[in-house]
Amino acid sequence: MEGSHQLPTSKPLPVLPAVEAAKRLAAFAAVDRHVGLKHKIIGIGSGSTVPYVVDRIVAQGAQANLGRVFVPTGFQSKELIIKAGLVLGDVDQYPKLDVTIDGADEVDDQLNSIKGGGACQLREKVLAEAAETWVIVADYRKNSKLLGTNWTQGIPIEVAPFAYAKVLTNLADMGSPATLPSGKPGLTLRMGKMKAGPVVSDNGMFIIDAPFPPELMAKPEELLHKIKMLTGVVEVGLFCNMARAAYFGNEASRHTHTH
Ligand code: 5RP
Repeated sequence: MEGSHQLPTSKPLPVLPAVEAAKRLAAFAAVDRHVGLKHKIIGIGSGSTVPYVVDRIVAQGAQANLGRVFVPTGFQSKELIIKAGLVLGDVDQYPKLDVTIDGADEVDDQLNSIKGGGACQLREKVLAEAAETWVIVADYRKNSKLLGTNWTQGIPIEVAPFAYAKVLTNLADMGSPATLPSGKPGLTLRMGKMKAGPVVSDNGMFIIDAPFPPELMAKPEELLHKIKMLTGVVEVGLFCNMARAAYFGNEASRHTHTH
């Protein structure tokens, strides 16, 4: 798909660095294609591409946004919705959404994805499953043949704090290595920036990052089900057979494409 994606105002778009421009292009293309006047309940995902989604929705104008409700996947998207002056809703009130647009850490040819770089995968998966249409927006770096090749930190797994040590042992037994072939750390409990304690998700859970070798990553659905079965695991950042489309902005051609 091709497009110049100018906002429907006379204001020119700011010039952005290449990766940011790619994110914006992907986000605008997704909104233009999947958010129309009939779409009233809209899920807003997490990550650095999503602010451009909100920008484009706001640019559709007050009339288009009249009667619309926006459901966030986490704290960041909640703030975005509020700051944009859009109407905030909760999945308790809106368990069925028309469309959800979200970022991703990596996406393969079948539109399976790794998510959870921002520790939001539980809410993200709930809003993906609750939506009639789930769409991914990302820059070209996230476009991958085989999951696990771009993002060496592995699969983000949300776990109950009480169970994290047991789940780490289970994941090691399943083949997640402590050290990557590059020598970097492999299977880890995700720590906060100051390393003073574990990252805690919006749901009060811990996050484990579990890389797996290519032979296991080649069957993401099988791997997802095995990890999900481990007691203590709340959600797995592998999203299989859920996406309708993925948009990757490409700074070179200024094209986006849909699988
Ligand atoms: C958060 C996510 C994000 O969507 C994912 O990490 C992508 O983020 P970014 O666009 O900033 O790279 O899954 O849990």
